[in-house]
Amino acid sequence: MKSFSGKIAVITGGGTGMGRELALALSGEACHVAICDISEENMQETLSLCKAGADSDVRISTHICDVSREDQVLAFRDEVLIAHETDHVNLLFNNAGIAGGGSFIVDKREDWERTFDICWFGVYFCSRAFVPLLVESDAGYLINTSSINGFWAAIGPGVAHTSYCAAKFAVKGFTEALITDLGVNAPHVKVAVVMPGHIGTSIVINSTKARGRNSAMDMTPEEVAVSRSIMEKRGLPIGNLSDDHIREAMQQRALDFRDKAPTTAKQAANIILDGVRAEKWRILIGDDADILDQRVRATPEDAYTEAFFTALTRDGIFTAINGEEAEQES
Ligand SMILES: NC(=O)c1ccc[n+]([C@@H]2O[C@H](COP(=O)([O-])OP(=O)(O)OC[C@H]3O[C@@H](n4cnc5c(N)ncnc54)[C@H](O)[C@@H]3O)[C@@H](O)[C@H]2O)c1
Repeated sequence: MKSFSGKIAVITGGGTGMGRELALALSGEACHVAICDISEENMQETLSLCKAGADSDVRISTHICDVSREDQVLAFRDEVLIAHETDHVNLLFNNAGIAGGGSFIVDKREDWERTFDICWFGVYFCSRAFVPLLVESDAGYLINTSSINGFWAAIGPGVAHTSYCAAKFAVKGFTEALITDLGVNAPHVKVAVVMPGHIGTSIVINSTKARGRNSAMDMTPEEVAVSRSIMEKRGLPIGNLSDDHIREAMQQRALDFRDKAPTTAKQAANIILDGVRAEKWRILIGDDADILDQRVRATPEDAYTEAFFTALTRDGIFTAINGEEAEQES
């Protein structure tokens, strides 16, 4: 797919971050765009940014939809067909996701399943709903966002991260298996898995909100105790910090994750779209993702050892993990 002009793209999680930047880049290239999100306010901001940069005949539609709910996904699909007066779409970006998910052993089951349901079932339900519409097109592309946590199931020493990793591994496995399935049964539809390293977005802030908290300042004393213990295990100098100081530190880490990343959301969106133009099936984003991928492949048996973590920290690759760790701790 060398040109996006005149095509129809569906983007989940288009309210902020990489989803917003994909919507902006695509609509700027005369691609019609349908975005969904759980935040109407953020989608409206994406819409007005897109309108400012796109020709007036480019259709941009917004749809409230929780991708972890199949009934809402099917309603979203029906709305897209009406809004774009079409029987097909050309691109589906399964991008929506939240961080977190923590421990399978001690965390609340509903928290664990919330992350898994959005990060895995969101991809699955949207693929069920929209892949038939890609098959209906002359040329289609399914782009599923996994993560470095789709090939490396850790976030740092002493921090459990099971749900997000399980979901992102599932997204990667599903996408790779579809290469052959689509190749045999719908060869005009291509597929790619996206594996970003640390990208400067509001994912930590948004994930906190998705769990019903305004910010890390709303953490309960029990949650502060968990964060305190993780920070102590990591050897951070927290001394006798009060609970509110711990909350402030967590809040600052969420902001730093957005503002001090090696790769911006706009750069990430451009890398994804370049990958689609080049018909890649495997799109890594950022030097941090490239290096981690090489190291995990070179020494898989060592990937969860102290020495492996220490080398990542020493070589400055751990920024990729810090923000999601912030979410995990908050
Ligand atoms: N930022 C990173 O460092 C990073 C790294 C690896 C992978 N990722 C993945 O990239 C994707 C995009 O994340 P981002 O960093 O742009 O974060 P983001 O929070 O800026 O964007 C995600 C969007 O998804 C939306 N969303 C959340 N739950 C939803 C639901 N149930 N239904 C519909 N929309 C929902 C959010 O409201 C938000 O607008 C995610 O799948 C994330 O896991 C991000």
